[in-house]
Amino acid sequence: MEKPKQGGLCYLCINECEYMSDIKIKVIDRTDKEHLLEAPTDMNMNLMEVFKAYELPVEGTCGGMALCSTCHCYVMSDHDLPTATDDEEDMLDQAFFVEDNSRLGCQLKINENLDGLTVKLAPTAD
Ligand code: FES
Repeated sequence: MEKPKQGGLCYLCINECEYMSDIKIKVIDRTDKEHLLEAPTDMNMNLMEVFKAYELPVEGTCGGMALCSTCHCYVMSDHDLPTATDDEEDMLDQAFFVEDNSRLGCQLKINENLDGLTVKLAPTAD
């Protein structure tokens, strides 16, 4: 079987293998440095978990329950994302530095639709 022509390594076996199914996401950190991440679409991860896997400065304090806003980011690309749930909207209502393109990373599931996404980490309150 021919292996898929994708960059990066499989998150399961740490090699190039047929299970790889990665998308690319660009993250602009709080110093305006760009990071090109690869995220697996087949591991039920969310964007906050990908930030943390790459050791970006995102706390994810509530573990992805939409209760802390430490995964707050701005969507910079023109992707058609799922509408924010009431829980996400409620948390963003209490967050600092909220903009029209604000989202909680933990509420964005990694799937093929997010390929090429560009996000910027929101400032922290402290
Ligand atoms: S990790 Fe807490 S709101 Fe996203």
